[in-house]
Amino acid sequence: MLKRNMRMTTMVILLFAVAGCSSPKQSEKAQAEKERYLKSARTIATGFQKQLSSILKKHLMAGGPAEAIAVCADTAQELTRAFGENRGASIRRVTTKPRNPADAPDEYEKAILEKFADLKREGKLSSRSEYFEIVEINGEKKARYMKPLTIVPVCLKCHGQNLSPEVSALLKERYPGDKATGYKSGDLRGAISISMDVE
Ligand code: HEC
Repeated sequence: MLKRNMRMTTMVILLFAVAGCSSPKQSEKAQAEKERYLKSARTIATGFQKQLSSILKKHLMAGGPAEAIAVCADTAQELTRAFGENRGASIRRVTTKPRNPADAPDEYEKAILEKFADLKREGKLSSRSEYFEIVEINGEKKARYMKPLTIVPVCLKCHGQNLSPEVSALLKERYPGDKATGYKSGDLRGAISISMDVE
């Protein structure tokens, strides 16, 4: 799987190399295109994170974790899908320890999550960490962007090591196969994953 990812990376480098040989203008164009997609992916990721976080905080304050879990369980998937669709992108939240099985990573995302986990182990993961490239997957050119999500104190209520009995029971009921507990502050939880068609 890593091999496949390396092959894709090599392909991207080759694509740029070829563009570079044929004419400098073309390579400038490729660079400008790359930056445009990167900028737009960053904006989408930040906006999405802000929206989710404000919904979470609102419901935690209004009705505590029980209300926030119910809202999250009922709306997170649709909200994520719609947020991307309205901006011409496909967005997912992915993790190797999913609460909702729909958030399991594909092969590509898994390889990048591993890169983030390596950075974390080396103490190099920061709020500026991100991954971006233009790749060809199954003959289609895509801009792929991933941004790590780390655990901060507010997440521990529902993803931490000592959940309240109420939260435990609610999660068990909604997510019988839940793998997303036992985290500590600062842990890598997963990533926002964005894919855009490159015209
Ligand atoms: C009130 C409880 C609650 C809090 C607090 C909470 N989460 Fe979650 N989280 C959930 C629920 C419920 C889901 C499953 C949503 C779904 O079905 O799509 C989830 C899913 C996720 C996912 C998607 C991957 C998966 O496991 O399905 C990520 C990533 C995530 N949470 C990160 C965080 C982070 C980071 C924080 C802190 C900023 C946080 N969560 C705070 C309840 C919570």
